[in-house]
Amino acid sequence: MQTVAVISRKGGAGKSTVAVNLAAALRDGGQRAVLADADPLRSSSEALRAHSLAVVETSASKLFALVTASRRSGCDVLVIDTPASPEADIVAAIKVADICLVVARPTYLDLAAALKTVELLRQLRAPGVIVLNQCPSPRQGREARVVTGAIEALRFAGVPVAGVTLRVRQAYQAALSYGLGVTEWEPTGQAATETRALAEQVLGRLRGEIQALRPANDAARPTALSTV
Ligand SMILES: Nc1ncnc2c1ncn2[C@@H]1O[C@H](COP(=O)(O)OP(=O)(O)O)[C@@H](O)[C@H]1O
Ligand SMILES: [Mg+2]
Repeated sequence: MQTVAVISRKGGAGKSTVAVNLAAALRDGGQRAVLADADPLRSSSEALRAHSLAVVETSASKLFALVTASRRSGCDVLVIDTPASPEADIVAAIKVADICLVVARPTYLDLAAALKTVELLRQLRAPGVIVLNQCPSPRQGREARVVTGAIEALRFAGVPVAGVTLRVRQAYQAALSYGLGVTEWEPTGQAATETRALAEQVLGRLRGEIQALRPANDAARPTALSTV
């Protein structure tokens, strides 16, 4: 079993949206996926209240036991939705994760917060990648400056960025209001397509060798991780 922690210190970045849709897409793709809702706000549990996907309401202190129990029960991928704070709860999720997805909008404040989270991953020598969410779609084939600027800034800082960028799409909101992931809500839609691509990239990373982020003062920067 592999464990994916979806983290961000910013509320509203899209942790719950990404966690729910990723778990649903993994399940659609044939994985035995379980979603662990470790945020006391219980957004994921609320979103999937009537869904057949297994959702476990949990807390940071119970994560280690949950990972063990999920492994024993035959789960393939455990996706953890986390709160924005306190840091101790985020650290607990990072420690049980095989990979951390750091969700950030392409804004200055989100990126600044994401860089601090990446620093935390480096200190813990944990593997992680930034997933840009709520990005504007390209217009006439041209990527918005805010998106290219964000990716450039992150790569300049030696931070791994997922090869899939999630866009602002109404489908993400509509699907959850019906208790569904986007891959079930509109399987041929663009939100479903990008979510499946993200799920594939995450699975690919989990199947391959996963490198921990080295502390920033290490000579070798994690350039090999510039895409998932
Ligand atoms: N890619 C997206 N497109 C449109 N709306 C989004 C997207 N990602 C998140 N949202 C919306 O933004 C809000 C915050 O998302 P949420 O997943 O609850 O963030 P977090 O869990 O990080 O606090 C929600 O209303 C959600 O529907
Ligand atoms: Mg949330």
